[in-house]
Amino acid sequence: MSRVIHPRLARPQWWRDAVVYQIYPRSFADAHGDGLGDIPGVTSRVWYLRELGVDAVWLSPFYPSQLADGGYDVDDYRDVDPRLGSLAEFDEMVAALHSAGIGVIVDLVPNHTSNRHAWFVEALAASPGAAARERYLFRDGANGGIEPPNEWESLFGGSAWTPAGDGQWYLHLFAPEQPDLNWDNPEVRIDFENTLRFWSDRGVDGFRVDVAHGLVKDLEEPWERQDELELWPRPDGSHPLWDRDGVMDIYRSWRRVFDCYDPPRFAVAEASVHPSRRARYASPETLGQAFNFAMSDADWRPGDFHEVVDTALRDAAESGSSTTWLLGGHDSPRVASRFGLPLIPSPRVYADTADGRPFRHDSQWLARQWLLSDGRRPHVDHELGRRRARAATLIELALPGCTYVYQGDELGLPEVADLPPEVLQDPMAGRSAREKGRDGCRVPLPWSADRNALGGNSFGFGRDGAHLPQPDWFADFAVDVQSADPTSTLTMFRRAVALRASLLAEASGESPAAAGGFAWVPAVEGVLHFHRGLWHCVTNFTDGAVPRPAGEVLLCSAPEGAGDGVPANSTVWLRAS
Ligand code: BGC
Repeated sequence: MSRVIHPRLARPQWWRDAVVYQIYPRSFADAHGDGLGDIPGVTSRVWYLRELGVDAVWLSPFYPSQLADGGYDVDDYRDVDPRLGSLAEFDEMVAALHSAGIGVIVDLVPNHTSNRHAWFVEALAASPGAAARERYLFRDGANGGIEPPNEWESLFGGSAWTPAGDGQWYLHLFAPEQPDLNWDNPEVRIDFENTLRFWSDRGVDGFRVDVAHGLVKDLEEPWERQDELELWPRPDGSHPLWDRDGVMDIYRSWRRVFDCYDPPRFAVAEASVHPSRRARYASPETLGQAFNFAMSDADWRPGDFHEVVDTALRDAAESGSSTTWLLGGHDSPRVASRFGLPLIPSPRVYADTADGRPFRHDSQWLARQWLLSDGRRPHVDHELGRRRARAATLIELALPGCTYVYQGDELGLPEVADLPPEVLQDPMAGRSAREKGRDGCRVPLPWSADRNALGGNSFGFGRDGAHLPQPDWFADFAVDVQSADPTSTLTMFRRAVALRASLLAEASGESPAAAGGFAWVPAVEGVLHFHRGLWHCVTNFTDGAVPRPAGEVLLCSAPEGAGDGVPANSTVWLRAS
């Protein structure tokens, strides 16, 4: 499909310093009026995305799916779920986004299909040993087939094996509805390359690769025991399930597909790997970019942020790519709530690595435990959380690299922590009595403060309710309310993205992609200060105002403005004089 390329997307490797907005399609905007967000809903909000000033959108899966895992259980990789639209509507959406200069990144889910995928239906109907079973990971059960082959557990709880009914069992690292593919099978590899071409031919600019570190597995016996299997990959690639070296062969062949296009397509890896191995996913010979989740784990402490930034920039230099910044996403408790939780006294260190870099997983994990637990819920200071989230947003937008922003975070939306159990959709919900899963950050967006704006009891989301219930307080966060408020989080976000674009362009003349400079500036305790040329970013992590370095104030995250200093829990952007 030939198209005129918007100058913004024609820049070589525009995605290296892009602001990408993540759309969770079922919860963004509902044009069909059935309570479920859809593709025409995205098209209907191109005005909003244009006003946000983002360079691209990443769409979480919109493919046919029974929604056993929010769409990450794909029935057909080359179609649109009829409840969400059609391929023709997808093309219309791409055209509308492109003419607004907004790139399109789609989610690819290569670790597993759904159990309704034609391949899996065929595999289950086939006999043990049949070629159709070789596309998945079937193994004989133990004890004559009546028990799973081993004791491995799925990430969503329960056994990682489900019986096929004939003595064999299939592996699923996630839900039973998500059978893992066998990437040693050339047919699987060829088919996914065809899927890359299918969407690239339709004008898609990039791919977000789900569970990018999981594709290649070592299922040779003897199996490792469950208690030997860390949840997190090992620094030496020796884990039987995660981040094995062979995964790179797959991405090198994908690179050959990407490079057949002009401009070349790119991909971003969702790879929970040891930080020392992330560079391999982001290399120009493989996917080009990898998510760096460290900032979404960081606590509100200058030391945490300092370390996250240093590590990310060092890794980026190693990979030859730019780094990525994320504060939230569809898998994590909302950032505005996380930063309102009490600080963790001593973050957990899961492993110390050969090169001495700690591998931590702290506030994110605790936020899930704390915020979503029943009964023992700690106090969440919503005002403080929102304030800190605004300050953190200005940090990530000032740093070199690509920033991913999850829908609703530009509104400062808090987590909906009290969804009743009967409405929960996430397969993670109910793994333990306290686990509520990820639905609290997936509640449909409030577009209007009027619950019945479209006659649909959905704050302007659609004409017929919302597939997850929106609390009354969503009215205060609605797009129309915030658009009219010069101090709102949305207004701050729009200003920040626009300013960032002009500062980068100014710094580098014709090619904003080339703007790179970054250096720390010594600061008083509790303050982080860095600059990129004349552009300075100063964050005060403390609860009292601190003096402000010299320069013209360009933007301040605090709703009350900068005043004479840098207000408590705030970031100020300055132009040095
Ligand atoms: C996605 C999740 C999904 C899982 C399995 C992830 O990393 O972001 O939402 O549940 O992959 O596909």
